[in-house]
Amino acid sequence: MAENKIIEMNQINKYYQIGSAQLHALKSVSLDVEKGEFIAILGPSGSGKSTLMNIIGCMDNPDEGSYTLDGTAVHEASEKVLTGIRNEKIGFIFQRYQLIQTYNVIQNIVMPLLMRGMSLREAEEASEDTIRLLGLEQRAKHKPRELSGGQQQRVAIARALVGNPAILLADEPTGALDQNSGKEVLKLFRRLNEMGNTIVMITHDLNVAQSAQRIVKIVDGELYEYEKDTEKMAVAK
Ligand SMILES: Nc1ncnc2c1ncn2[C@@H]1O[C@H](COP(=O)(O)OP(=O)(O)O)[C@@H](O)[C@H]1O
Ligand SMILES: [Mg+2]
Repeated sequence: MAENKIIEMNQINKYYQIGSAQLHALKSVSLDVEKGEFIAILGPSGSGKSTLMNIIGCMDNPDEGSYTLDGTAVHEASEKVLTGIRNEKIGFIFQRYQLIQTYNVIQNIVMPLLMRGMSLREAEEASEDTIRLLGLEQRAKHKPRELSGGQQQRVAIARALVGNPAILLADEPTGALDQNSGKEVLKLFRRLNEMGNTIVMITHDLNVAQSAQRIVKIVDGELYEYEKDTEKMAVAK
């Protein structure tokens, strides 16, 4: 395996059984993502995005094929190993932020570190840079409901980043935001990518996908490279 590959998926097939019928949700999907890439997975509703994301995020296993994430063969890993991979190698970012409402900003952000067994004091110290990077210092003691959607998504991004994961995995990260806040989040993704973070972003929106360096398109369970519109990319910046 080449050392610069973070994601290596080979000939992945996934089927759903619906009664006596079988739905072929992912059809021989192969995908390589290099360290430091910002890639968008673009596809319409029902194309297989969530199915693929669940496999990339180690929340589901492929029926056939191999998947290696940052050197670990995920397709043959035990549930215990998978839990560790989810916590240490993947920073999840969801459409609806998925923050814990009864926790304040800093309590939400340190969660992944506490789950790794850090003490609260260590975790708060370790998260200081991330909180500053995302401009959340003034909001540290606020509860999610006291923040705008864009700010809540920044908290969710901080929580995803704080453990220094191998990949940031974002599922429609701008889907619940107004246009300006959405643009801010995409700008932030580009900045995080420039700082060296590997980003995999799932979206149904071509304009959103244009923020990434590379686009792959999924249609009816089949994945292929999509030629980027570089002019639009310049405009998006
Ligand atoms: N748990 C499931 N059981 C049966 N069929 C499913 C299940 N999840 C998804 N599907 C089907 O698989 C296909 C891909 O779904 P999905 O990955 O959710 O697509 P997307 O996220 O792009 O909308 C769709 O036809 C969907 O109906
Ligand atoms: Mg979906």
